[in-house]
Amino acid sequence: MSTEVMIAAAPRAATGRYTAAAQGLHWVSAALMLAVLVLAWVMESLPNNDSTRATVVMLHKSVGLTILALTVARLAWRAIHPPPPAARWAAWEAAAAMASHWLLYLVLLAMPISGYLMSAGRGRAIPYFGLFEVPLLTPATDAIWRIGATVHWAGQWALYTLVALHIAAAVWHVAIRRDGTLDRMLPEQSGP
Ligand code: HEM
Ligand code: HEM
Repeated sequence: MSTEVMIAAAPRAATGRYTAAAQGLHWVSAALMLAVLVLAWVMESLPNNDSTRATVVMLHKSVGLTILALTVARLAWRAIHPPPPAARWAAWEAAAAMASHWLLYLVLLAMPISGYLMSAGRGRAIPYFGLFEVPLLTPATDAIWRIGATVHWAGQWALYTLVALHIAAAVWHVAIRRDGTLDRMLPEQSGP
């Protein structure tokens, strides 16, 4: 059977899947991203003297640094296990996916690093889930804080835009293109 006939017969079959580790890291990172944002919004809405604010800030920083560690692990894993080829994508779709994925990775690194610079720039402690203090490696200066704050503030808008586009693209692939793209990030179904 020719490749075209096989594709026509199974239009929704995935063309290949990310490894289980890449899938796990993707979905855990996505869930933590939602958590870190909710914590940020709660944190920003609490007055400075609120007794729970310090806990929310500590959780925001800890979840954010966890995202940083997972992103470094993802990129290392990706270097050894490249994504599966996407045979049914048009050239422009592949280019758009590649650009948006690298921009997402950039934001996944820039947000926690800039958050860290804000804390270090003010000499504020970062107790990782209350278990240990993350070392502050930069001098506590206004310049460091300002770089961190600028990137952190602007980065959140880049993040909202990219994630909205990313989810819209996933919906488009599922509902309109029906090309199995979402399946690439989901475990293989067993059974008939
Ligand atoms: C993926 C990771 C992260 C995301 C998406 C994120 C997102 C945000 C957002 C949306 C805000 C509210 C900004 C505003 O409305 O002004 C915020 C504030 C803040 N974040 Fe993060 N953050 C992350 C990681 C971190 C980390 C790792 C740290 C520190 C170690 C940190 C420290 C802070 C601080 C100190 C603020 C308060 C800024 C202020 O209002 O003075 N963040 N973050
Ligand atoms: C409902 C939410 C989400 C859905 C349905 C979704 C779906 C997907 C799918 C299907 C892929 C594989 C695309 C391909 O075949 O090339 C993918 C890749 C990716 N997603 Fe998501 N995603 C979601 C949330 C997120 C979030 C919140 C982030 C990060 C902020 C994110 C970051 C990424 C990155 C960086 C890749 C590229 C993986 C690689 O090639 O190494 N995703 N996503």
